[in-house]
Amino acid sequence: MSKSNRATPEGTAAYRDRFQGKTALGHFRALGRLTVGSIGMGTYLGLHEDSVDAGYERTLAEALRHGCNHIDTAINYRCMRSEKAIGRALAALFDEGAFSREEIVLSTKGGYIPFDGEPPPNIRAFIRSAYIETGIVDEDCLVGGCHAMTPRFLERQITRSLENLRLETIDLYYLHNPEVHRAVLPKALFFERIRRAFAFLEEEAERGRIGYYGVSSWEAFRAEPSSPVYISIQDLVNAAREAAGGEHRFAAIQLPFNAAMMEGFALTAQEVDGENLSAIDAASRLGLAVTTSVPLLQGRLLKRFPGFLAAGMRDLVSNAEKAIQFARSVPGVSSVIVGMSNDLHAVENLSPARRRPLTEEELLRLFEE
Ligand SMILES: NC(=O)c1ccc[n+]([C@@H]2O[C@H](COP(=O)([O-])OP(=O)(O)OC[C@H]3O[C@@H](n4cnc5c(N)ncnc54)[C@H](OP(=O)(O)O)[C@@H]3O)[C@@H](O)[C@H]2O)c1
Repeated sequence: MSKSNRATPEGTAAYRDRFQGKTALGHFRALGRLTVGSIGMGTYLGLHEDSVDAGYERTLAEALRHGCNHIDTAINYRCMRSEKAIGRALAALFDEGAFSREEIVLSTKGGYIPFDGEPPPNIRAFIRSAYIETGIVDEDCLVGGCHAMTPRFLERQITRSLENLRLETIDLYYLHNPEVHRAVLPKALFFERIRRAFAFLEEEAERGRIGYYGVSSWEAFRAEPSSPVYISIQDLVNAAREAAGGEHRFAAIQLPFNAAMMEGFALTAQEVDGENLSAIDAASRLGLAVTTSVPLLQGRLLKRFPGFLAAGMRDLVSNAEKAIQFARSVPGVSSVIVGMSNDLHAVENLSPARRRPLTEEELLRLFEE
């Protein structure tokens, strides 16, 4: 296999094949033309401390050894420390020859203005001097004092993410929570900005600095159409088609899903071809992959996982395993991104990979028991 500086269909399929017999059927799934494990690793939480960085580095190595080849981050997570920790960990693993670049799918996000290492003493003064006065962001394109998605801003963010990650290509680049803009802009202006951002991301894909792009959200795909933060997935796909025709690289959405946040599966508020669908079904219908976040409700489901769901998964031991198995069993989900900075958690969280996901029938039955 020839060496590449990005995840490839062949490399990610070879990673899957390495785990034949060690993971169950249904663990590995498609994300665009790539293959990812249904349990990915997230890097959002934790203090801005070296010990947490070291924890993420150990966890990444452990996760890769247990069938997780999808790592998710964002430039602003832990003031760029998460991206830098991933960069160090991957470089060490590649040097050792333990894993190769082609088999790992790396996603990161841009939108929130990031800090370097720790928050500056005066955040507003920092944003003004580093972003507004330098002309990187026009003041009228900055939303909430902290979020932007103009081409010039995204170009700088991608450059910095590539440096932090020590990579030449980001496999999947998400616009991070664009509903921050949707909440304050008229719909037409919001989609004009989305189209400009998508057209720019198509150029970045052409240059090879990103593979695919996507939209990651907190509220947009869990909201009713009447909500100020609602974003139609069909409208996003239309924007990508306007930017690049049928060959666009808009490939994925990310949204929270867990036992306390089930809207992506249960709320049919996304219209596609005149039919009202859930966000996950709408994305699948439109040819997008779906990744889901916060499967453990940031740890809160570990103490108390709903009994009616747990009852249908008695073969699994811990609440973490049950919560992950529940999330990875939703039809249409490529990868469930589990936040973990402790390598022992990686071993536990990857154990559901050895079981087949619940069938749709078994999943629906959980709600009847
Ligand atoms: N809008 C967005 O784009 C968005 C929003 C939220 C999240 N995300 C992505 O989704 C990822 C997952 O969400 P999240 O990290 O917020 O929440 P989460 O995955 O629901 O929970 C992560 C927390 O659970 C703990 N944990 C993990 N496995 C455990 C285990 N087996 N036993 C005990 N504790 C365990 C972790 O601790 P340790 O660190 O100690 O392992 C961490 O504190 C994020 O990291 C991020 O990549 C995206």
